[in-house]
Amino acid sequence: MSSTHLRLSITILSLISSLWQLVAAEPVQYCKFGDSDNPNGRVDFCMGAVLHRNASTSSHDLLLSFTHIRRNGSKLGWTAIGLGNSMEGSLMFVVYGDPISSQAPIVSIRGSAGHHQPTLLTRADAGGADLRVVQAAWAKSTGASEGTGRHDYVAQVHLICYSCSLWPGALISATAKSQPWIWAWNPHQDFPVFSFDAHLEMHAHHSTSGGFGNFFVDMTRAVNNVPRPVSLPPIRPQIATMGTSETPVGLRATFLTIALNPTLHLHALLMGIAFFVLFPAGIFAMRSGAKTAFRYHWVLQLAGSTSIFCSMILGLIMRQSINTVHQGIGVAIAIATGLQGILGWRHHVKLLETGDRTWLSDAHVLLGRLVMIAGWSNVVIGMMLYGYSIRSVFIVGALGLIEMAGIILWVWRTSCKKNVVQEDSEGPSEDPQRKEVYIPSRGL
Ligand code: HEM
Ligand SMILES: *[C@@H]1O[C@H](CO)[C@@H](O)[C@H](O)[C@H]1NC(C)=O
Ligand SMILES: *[C@@H]1O[C@H](CO)[C@@H](O)[C@H](O)[C@H]1NC(C)=O
Repeated sequence: MSSTHLRLSITILSLISSLWQLVAAEPVQYCKFGDSDNPNGRVDFCMGAVLHRNASTSSHDLLLSFTHIRRNGSKLGWTAIGLGNSMEGSLMFVVYGDPISSQAPIVSIRGSAGHHQPTLLTRADAGGADLRVVQAAWAKSTGASEGTGRHDYVAQVHLICYSCSLWPGALISATAKSQPWIWAWNPHQDFPVFSFDAHLEMHAHHSTSGGFGNFFVDMTRAVNNVPRPVSLPPIRPQIATMGTSETPVGLRATFLTIALNPTLHLHALLMGIAFFVLFPAGIFAMRSGAKTAFRYHWVLQLAGSTSIFCSMILGLIMRQSINTVHQGIGVAIAIATGLQGILGWRHHVKLLETGDRTWLSDAHVLLGRLVMIAGWSNVVIGMMLYGYSIRSVFIVGALGLIEMAGIILWVWRTSCKKNVVQEDSEGPSEDPQRKEVYIPSRGL
């Protein structure tokens, strides 16, 4: 290929790629659709964003749209979103006001040094980022209130954060595939006056209370490189996510989220280790036919039980109340695991005494199978409840099924072998070690 051809191809390619960037850039959107019958039930907001590369400052301006529904014109509460991973260091936009009054909704731009009431920002706090509210208004909302005799209102807010990545508190990046954002709300607070620096009452406590949360935005999708000013992002009705997600995408964002809620993930990890590694290994060991089988079995099952116990304590620290199916199953499993230990131990003692299996042995095997099935299921239920991605839930669920199949095969194989051995042998041997290998072969 001649050099002119090459140059021409490169020009055409770069033209296509820049055209593609123009076409591919689109507003991203994230919505939480509340419960229209119970206005205090769930948070209700939408955000849309566009990032615009500003030729005169060579940095990115963030154009943000935000809407929030107030059922029947209620003047109670506040709703907020923020850029950042947790309260600390986030750039927050808190919206409140009285839709029936003539006053526009307040857009209070705040920051916080931790788990305290966020305070109003000064220009100096923003580190060179410059924030301007372009529009804030109440509008009548149609839709859910139709025919209910209710008059719903929606706060419509547009703002621009010029050179937004200069914000010093948290990383705000136009190249992030998974930029963390936060949201929070308080549906009850009755403001005596609506001022920018009004005192805010806290959102609900606890990660599962629905009072606060995270979402993640693919900023690269929102970048628009055209030189002229771009229009504010529209909020598209009925669309929950566009270029955004509930869970982080990629490794870095995943680590950030784990750091945000270490108790939750440690709880999940310990349960995972118990049900996917230690207990299955203990079952395999028991059936291995080795002389040390029994010792491996009880050591592994004890380690698994300890892991479950620690994990349950973490779970209780997180919630302090037991009211979901996941927690109910969890407590039942913990009790059953304790029982398993006692049954296993009594079975062993009886066995050494009499050399025969008792009802204890069968109970131990049966309960063990139930605990394993309940445990695998509950790990999956927990992951589904607490925001793990569909993909990871699927992988863990599949792993559970594979392990179950593996154990069934292993148990079936070893019990076939033992039956053959049994026919050849002349009754139980006097060596306790050998009995222990022979006895459990009839069950897990
Ligand atoms: C009004 C005063 C506020 C107080 C006193 C407050 C306090 C707290 C506390 C104590 C926690 C720890 C979690 C818990 O104990 O359940 C927390 C977490 C959280 N809050 Fe706030 N908060 C306030 C306002 C806000 C606002 C305006 C936002 C805006 C988006 C927000 C977003 C969050 C988020 C996302 C978390 C979880 C991540 C983290 O731990 O930082 N909070 N808050
Ligand atoms: C809506 O608010 C009005 C006046 O504030 C009240 O009279 C009416 O009962 C409310 N309707 C509903 C469905 O809550
Ligand atoms: C670029 O940034 C400057 C300063 O923040 C701002 O005044 C101007 O409007 C921006 N240009 C565009 C095209 O948005």
